[in-house]
Amino acid sequence: MKNDYEDKVMDHYTKVAQTVGLASSCTMEDEYIRAGETRAILSLVETAARNIPERLRVLDVGCGNGYTLRTLAEQIRNVGLEDRVELMGVEKNPDLLQLARKMNEDWPVVVVGGDMLCPGTLAIDPGSVDICVSQRVVINLMDPADQQTALGNLVKLVKSGGHLLFIECFQDALDNLNAARKEFGLEPNVPAIHNLYLPPGFFDMPGLEEAAPAGWDIRPNIFSTHYYVQRVLQSALRGNVIDRNSNFVRFFSAALPEGVGDYSPIRIHCLRKKPAE
Ligand SMILES: C[S@@+](CC[C@H](N)C(=O)[O-])C[C@H]1O[C@@H](n2cnc3c(N)ncnc32)[C@H](O)[C@@H]1O
Repeated sequence: MKNDYEDKVMDHYTKVAQTVGLASSCTMEDEYIRAGETRAILSLVETAARNIPERLRVLDVGCGNGYTLRTLAEQIRNVGLEDRVELMGVEKNPDLLQLARKMNEDWPVVVVGGDMLCPGTLAIDPGSVDICVSQRVVINLMDPADQQTALGNLVKLVKSGGHLLFIECFQDALDNLNAARKEFGLEPNVPAIHNLYLPPGFFDMPGLEEAAPAGWDIRPNIFSTHYYVQRVLQSALRGNVIDRNSNFVRFFSAALPEGVGDYSPIRIHCLRKKPAE
């Protein structure tokens, strides 16, 4: 049965696909966040590929225009791991699906259409994925019950002992950001109309634990300083402007220590599907 937010989300991404196309800014205009997310994903795949003797299957669910998959394919070839990693993407929006295929047409990447809420549409066997990446995708399910269903569906796709990397937005961190904005008399930031931020404890589920492969140690709050610089300091000094890639933001996000505080709604969580006892 179709839910009442689906058309809104679909229309948003169709417009984005048609206006932004194959650019890395498609679905992520902030270059600092895009670079940090890509770094986290590449290093997780590389670390796991070096730790695990078998060939690794990586799934990018809601892969958008395929930018991350393409970057992963290039990187694993550059470090000589192309025979060790299999890359797959799933995308629900037909326009983005087409872009993702075009983006990766010269690379050994398989992109299929599908909906993570309907496991039957995914054409991926349960328990067959080593790393599942969800990069700002669960927040597109604008019903808490659907978000939990999607989490359960993704966990089922992953092998016992495999990992899930969630780069998603969280309501409690947005509350922290808005408390900091309030000190400067700034109105609260609110989620985009096609997003529902996740609640605390979202990943509390039997059989799932917060754990990363040895050697991968990216903290959930790596974007915190950047958010404070962009959405508090810059907004206070420049009349509440949102200018994601300004000189001011580039300078201070590079000059200050990364990940101070908990002001970034976007957090990175690496989880492990516990092996059955
Ligand atoms: C914020 S975009 C991120 C795209 C990509 N991960 C990136 O970072 O470039 C969210 C993506 O999830 C896709 N999506 C939303 N709901 C989905 C669902 N139920 N199943 C599969 N993909 C979905 C959207 O079409 C969109 O491409």
